[in-house]
Amino acid sequence: MKIVLASRNKKKIRELETLLAQSTSMHIEVLSLDDIGYSDEIEEDGTSFSENALIKASVPASLGYIGIADDSGLTVDALNGAPGIYSARYSGEGADDGKNNEKLLSEMWNVPNELRGAGFVSAVACVLPRGMQADIPSEIRAKSREGLDAFVLRGECRGTILHEKHGEGGFGYDPLFYVAEKGKTFAELSAEEKNAISHRGIAMRAFCAAFTAVFQEKTED
Ligand code: IMP
Repeated sequence: MKIVLASRNKKKIRELETLLAQSTSMHIEVLSLDDIGYSDEIEEDGTSFSENALIKASVPASLGYIGIADDSGLTVDALNGAPGIYSARYSGEGADDGKNNEKLLSEMWNVPNELRGAGFVSAVACVLPRGMQADIPSEIRAKSREGLDAFVLRGECRGTILHEKHGEGGFGYDPLFYVAEKGKTFAELSAEEKNAISHRGIAMRAFCAAFTAVFQEKTED
């Protein structure tokens, strides 16, 4: 079975292939947008992580493939959920991790410790090509804008935003995101430790289980 992850990131492609291989006996080949010759930019103009994941995953689906995509970001309680879906470009033109972290700290300079709660959120979507039948559980069922059948899984990891960066690992807002149960920021965890508790790890594992349930049963019919 071939599926397409709406990404050009080879690391993400191999990661999904490995995770799916661990959760199903089906042989699944994960292709990238480059592999199917799609070179346009995808406009992510949804209003939530789930909507943006559905928008991206519907691109391969509209070309006849099973499409998969993820979208994630940081939601800060004291900022009414910002930076949210704008996490990657929070500091505006020329945004990078350093500038985004500086902007976050400046927006929160007067927020006391007890109000610095935040969550990393990840949504992973699968959109089916037109005409493909599948039995999707109602709790995860969704539709793409074009009306294609789809399902979405979400993961969240709660933490607090520190007043300064700690740790060298990870990326994005990791050095500011402190997880009390670990006594560390995401940037101080190993990749394995982070994956075990992260929004992306949780969403991806839930997604792989759902994918297996939806498609394994279908191929066993
Ligand atoms: P993406 O949708 O996975 O590309 O994530 C969008 C943006 O959210 C990234 O550019 C980061 O700024 C932020 N983000 C998402 N996941 C993480 C994470 O695990 N650690 C730190 N930042 C993250």
